[in-house]
Amino acid sequence: MKQHNNRKVALIVGAQGVIGRNLSAYLEAQQEWDIIGLSRRGGEETPYLKHIAVDLMNEADTQKKLGHLTTVTHIFYAAYQDAGTWAGLVAPNMTMLQNVVNVVEPVATQLQHISLMQGYKVYGAHLGPFKTPARESDAGTFMPPEFNMSQQHFLEHKQRGKSWTWSAIRPSVVGGFALGNPMNLAMVIAVYAAISKELGLPLRFPGKPGAYHTLMEMTDANLLAKATAWAATNDAGANSAFNINNGDLFRWSDLWPRIARYFDMEVADPLPIPLAEVMADKAPLWNNMMEKYGLQHSYEEVSSWKFGDFVFSWDYDFFADGSKARRAGFHEFVDTAAMFMEIFDNFKKMKVIP
Ligand SMILES: NC(=O)c1ccc[n+]([C@@H]2O[C@H](COP(=O)([O-])OP(=O)(O)OC[C@H]3O[C@@H](n4cnc5c(N)ncnc54)[C@H](OP(=O)(O)O)[C@@H]3O)[C@@H](O)[C@H]2O)c1
Repeated sequence: MKQHNNRKVALIVGAQGVIGRNLSAYLEAQQEWDIIGLSRRGGEETPYLKHIAVDLMNEADTQKKLGHLTTVTHIFYAAYQDAGTWAGLVAPNMTMLQNVVNVVEPVATQLQHISLMQGYKVYGAHLGPFKTPARESDAGTFMPPEFNMSQQHFLEHKQRGKSWTWSAIRPSVVGGFALGNPMNLAMVIAVYAAISKELGLPLRFPGKPGAYHTLMEMTDANLLAKATAWAATNDAGANSAFNINNGDLFRWSDLWPRIARYFDMEVADPLPIPLAEVMADKAPLWNNMMEKYGLQHSYEEVSSWKFGDFVFSWDYDFFADGSKARRAGFHEFVDTAAMFMEIFDNFKKMKVIP
């Protein structure tokens, strides 16, 4: 791996995730970072990006593969392990964070910052109607367990008396390019639209009627990357949490017909369709489509139906106050409709969808 003079060294934990992957691309484009990406699968190296394949659930493997990372200046934690239940998320996600921090923090003598990727789960957004707009200070005010807050408390505790700082970044649902990820809403919509079209169906909103009309917001993965880097490198971000969102609200009732127009499809009324169930038998159809349209990615790589069912079940307002980051100096915003179309364009270019 090449090294920049006067360099910052980013350790991106979860570098193949929808968030980590886009963060890594953003930092690489800044030309002032040497980047080390962690995941189990590893990845392709570029001049300033090196991947280490490591199982962070395994303490010995983490020690063996990461014990030599003495030059890391910034840790960006965006790894995630799914579990069957909400409470079940705590153990694996705490273990991974603790393993990486306990190995790297003591040897990385120039460590400046640890960034923790969270989300609106800290406000109970996954549980049901929560207080909106959610403010950063609303976090953790309901009965635990909740893995994001457990992770934050671990970092707060670890940071006491140290020269490095931490930040916690809280995006809404993230839109960005990634493959083989459990939480990828743009992929859910794109593949659902492609399959509906192939079957000669209109683009029907597959969620609860209430979800069609509720207020919602998204976070663009590139905007999120900029915000994450900003919080990690500015004094205003030190030891603080920030909601990061596109800055515009939308209703599916407005956006869905625009998405249908993009795919040149008729739009149909909402009907709650359990995607995880009804899309389970579509692999043979997808294989035919791969051949017919020259698509490059398997059905498994483009399926995150459970997440689609989750997001489209939210028949309550889903947004947070993004003004704390703006007051502290982060002023970027993104047009959500344009974001979706850009991601869909990208999926077409990468032969993910026809
Ligand atoms: N996606 C969203 O819409 C969204 C929205 C708000 C908040 N968030 C939060 O942001 C965080 C990251 O989410 P994400 O959607 O980017 O996750 P993701 O796409 O599932 O990515 C997770 C990353 O962690 C790596 N990983 C998982 N288990 C590992 C292990 N044992 N050892 C090493 N690496 C491991 C994965 O790579 P391998 O599989 O190759 O190991 C992958 O790179 C989560 O806390 C999530 O709750 C996500």
